[in-house]
Amino acid sequence: MVNRFRNRTVVVTGASAGIGRAMARRLIEAGANVGLVARRREALEELAGPNVAIFPGDVRDADFCSRAVEGTAEAFGGIDCAIANAGISMNAPFASADLSVFREMMEVNYFGSLHVARFAHPHLKKSRGSLVFISSVVGKRGFPTRSGYSASKFAVQALFESLRVEWAPEGIHVGIVAPGYTETEIRVNALGSDGKPRGEGGSTVGSVMSADRAAESILKAAADRRRETILTRGGKAMVLLNRFFPALADRVSAKVVG
Ligand SMILES: NC(=O)c1ccc[n+]([C@@H]2O[C@H](COP(=O)([O-])OP(=O)(O)OC[C@H]3O[C@@H](n4cnc5c(N)ncnc54)[C@H](OP(=O)(O)O)[C@@H]3O)[C@@H](O)[C@H]2O)c1
Repeated sequence: MVNRFRNRTVVVTGASAGIGRAMARRLIEAGANVGLVARRREALEELAGPNVAIFPGDVRDADFCSRAVEGTAEAFGGIDCAIANAGISMNAPFASADLSVFREMMEVNYFGSLHVARFAHPHLKKSRGSLVFISSVVGKRGFPTRSGYSASKFAVQALFESLRVEWAPEGIHVGIVAPGYTETEIRVNALGSDGKPRGEGGSTVGSVMSADRAAESILKAAADRRRETILTRGGKAMVLLNRFFPALADRVSAKVVG
């Protein structure tokens, strides 16, 4: 499957860890050219190679995102796929969380993804390529203690749905993939009420997918130009439950986050 990326150029944000790093590794193995974005330079340098361009920096910064996208296009002669994956979560009750937590969710998850979309657009138009957003099951319904995270993912859902329709005449595919629980650093990096990373993982319920399996499914969804994909059995069950039995989903959502 992933061989469909041979000689294609893909920008991946959040490539220093977790799902983004697993996607980067798979793409490199498949012979793709990759532009890798994240703040941790050393982690990106570990992935260095002839078909790899690294861009250490912060997706909240629009000018930086522009340089990273243009730099990738210049290095490899265009862009076929841009994956807005960089993200940060929270784990704090709404009433006690510092307001900076909510701004941070929007800055990284919403504006970080918006920047990728904006700057990749002219290149994707040329290649009739793909823009993919890594959402979450919390981007499909709200969860307690994840309110700002959830809201930021809903915001990108609306943005990317709009772009899907705006850009369809240009031949651009816009896909959304919503992972369920995946084994990464996200729960340790999640911001607590004081706006600082909690430094300890919250609990998970049910099966947890490996980052590598999530990466494989996301790349397949991108190659197949899928509209929306929900990952993990638990994630799919939650989305269905919310659609058909929303009051029951309220009760379940109170139990599945910690
Ligand atoms: N793991 C899960 O259970 C799960 C479930 C649903 C959805 N997701 C989504 O999957 C995506 C990837 O998350 P993950 O689970 O792989 O988490 P992770 O292991 O914490 O990795 C997050 C990545 O995002 C990057 N990042 C964070 N803030 C950034 C910023 N301001 N600028 C640039 N890069 C930034 C991090 O790199 P640096 O720290 O080096 O900048 C890191 O590479 C996220 O969008 C997340 O919401 C994850």
